[in-house]
Amino acid sequence: MLLPLFAALVAASTAVLIFAGGLVTSTGSGLSVPDWPSTYGWFMWAFPVSKMVGGIFYEHAHRLIASTVGFLIVVLAIWLGRAEPRRWVRRLGYLALAAVVTQGILGGITVLWYLPDAISIAHASLAQIVFCLTVTIALATSTGWKSGYIADPQGPRRIDDSVEAGLRSAKREGRHARLNTAPNDRTLQRVAIVTTAVIFVQILIGATMRHTGAGLAIPDFPLAFGDLIPPHWDSKIAIHFAHRVGAATVAVFIIATAGHVFAHHARRAELRRPAILLLVLLALQITLGALTVLSGKQFIINSLHVVNGALVLVTSLVLTLRAHRARFADTGSADAGSAQRDPVRGAGSRTRDDQGRSWTRRGARA
Ligand code: HEM
Repeated sequence: MLLPLFAALVAASTAVLIFAGGLVTSTGSGLSVPDWPSTYGWFMWAFPVSKMVGGIFYEHAHRLIASTVGFLIVVLAIWLGRAEPRRWVRRLGYLALAAVVTQGILGGITVLWYLPDAISIAHASLAQIVFCLTVTIALATSTGWKSGYIADPQGPRRIDDSVEAGLRSAKREGRHARLNTAPNDRTLQRVAIVTTAVIFVQILIGATMRHTGAGLAIPDFPLAFGDLIPPHWDSKIAIHFAHRVGAATVAVFIIATAGHVFAHHARRAELRRPAILLLVLLALQITLGALTVLSGKQFIINSLHVVNGALVLVTSLVLTLRAHRARFADTGSADAGSAQRDPVRGAGSRTRDDQGRSWTRRGARA
């Protein structure tokens, strides 16, 4: 019971760390502390608070938060190693640990080598991967993932036969219907994977733009130098424009994924909720991106754009993983085997997917 809570705390603290890292770059504080792992010769945790002024505040606070998150991930990996029966989840813990150690070293090298673009971009990108790993661990250890998601009897009515049948039987028996399987909808699985990948590429372009100083290469928004397409080009304008085209592409894919969820899985709260959240975060992200440009990169707005970008990514990842839940050999459920037969606990012996097809075993159509 405590492990899922702790995993969620680690994931949330990773988001805080990404915001803190965003503040360091947005305030140009990356070289305010010239040494690493010490801070002006002090052991990191002994550095006096009174000396944390100006850029030193952002850089040193980032290091303290990063060390705390690193420590939490060490504890998480050990905890999973001792208490988690699923090998793939234990491995995710070790992977998160390896990633966060690499992340710390990259951060240190970034400072010692005076912020080379390639290392700074790698540091920013790996931060997103660490966040994805901690969120995946939090999801895999959650009760909903392990035992099946509660069906939403108040949700909008749509074609979702397996859910409808289970809801009726649960209502008769006066209990909550817990969905043993996720829908094995290949279209949703594919579109969700592509959406998550497109968001990740967009974030890589964002990191490249940020660390090559191309953030204001196009100074107006939504137009570019008053035109739809920039009238003149250089490498910075090209990177910046690619980020805008990327935003439009991300928007198309998020709308497609969410639209598919609303059309085919509206009663599945575990899919509907991240789909709604994804649309809200997308609107916020585009607004924050526009304000970043129009405010001349105001540092709080800019950092919120960075962390919200990470939230867009992990929300899409959660939706993608939940859409794939039926394909996981071991979800950690006590009755994992029955999940393949019974879409809603107690509802019947056959699984029907959301297009109404019958499934007798994973991936094989009856
Ligand atoms: C869904 C769409 C978007 C996503 C996921 C996204 C994500 C990101 C991320 C994660 C970064 C920072 C990368 C890092 O340093 O780690 C970034 C940078 C940036 N983004 Fe976006 N962004 C999106 C849309 C937009 C839009 C519409 C604009 C408006 C022009 C915009 C403007 C910027 C700017 C100017 C920067 C660089 C700021 C700087 O130089 O410090 N973004 N983006």
